[in-house]
Amino acid sequence: MKPDDKATLLNSLQYYLEDLIETGVTELPLPQGTISGSTENCMTVLDTPMLPTETLEEIREDLGDCRRCALAEGRKNIVFGTGSPSASLVFVGEAPGRDEDIQGKPFVGEAGQLLTKIIKAMGFSRDDVYICNVLKCRPPYNRNPLQSEIEQCHDFMLRQVKAISPKVIVALGTFAAQTLLNTKAPISRLRGKFHDYHGMALMPTFHPAFLLRNPEKKREVWDDVKQVMSALEK
Ligand code: URA
Repeated sequence: MKPDDKATLLNSLQYYLEDLIETGVTELPLPQGTISGSTENCMTVLDTPMLPTETLEEIREDLGDCRRCALAEGRKNIVFGTGSPSASLVFVGEAPGRDEDIQGKPFVGEAGQLLTKIIKAMGFSRDDVYICNVLKCRPPYNRNPLQSEIEQCHDFMLRQVKAISPKVIVALGTFAAQTLLNTKAPISRLRGKFHDYHGMALMPTFHPAFLLRNPEKKREVWDDVKQVMSALEK
């Protein structure tokens, strides 16, 4: 290849990657065993599940009576996650609220009841799917999570989804979507399409608590959910 052709190719590649980054894409998954080839299918749901290297019990044990950040001081319970360890669908929210902190289970308050309705409308029960949060402890007064708290906690959630190896992850709301996709793009731009999260398909959508305040957005969530359902059927 001539040096000029190489420069043109590198330029195009840079524009292409910048475009993807702007859309919130952080990685380009390649099917296992693929060294080179077309990137056309990068955003399709991968058929080949990743092989889990640890179990949810092992991760829970490692988390222990976590004191890695100051949220430990004010919490009543660690909210690790609930549901099937072999779920094909995982929901990830932001952090436990008051009800979740008291019960030690994710999404059991008012927003949780709406999430349960969405799950049922998809033809599942809460036991069929897995539900967890980016943060395992309640931030005081439900304030936004701090960067330092995310840094301590995010990896546990990543290990959880890797252990489950679902077909699809649904990120609920701005915080979960932006954290998982490592972007500042608004949820309104992120939702409605699949993104890659460590080789797994991730659909961002509005948080159920946001839907309680903005019921007219339910239609968009349903559009996202329908895409998730057809990806699960494949
Ligand atoms: N909101 C969340 O993001 N997670 C919960 O568990 C409850 C409310």
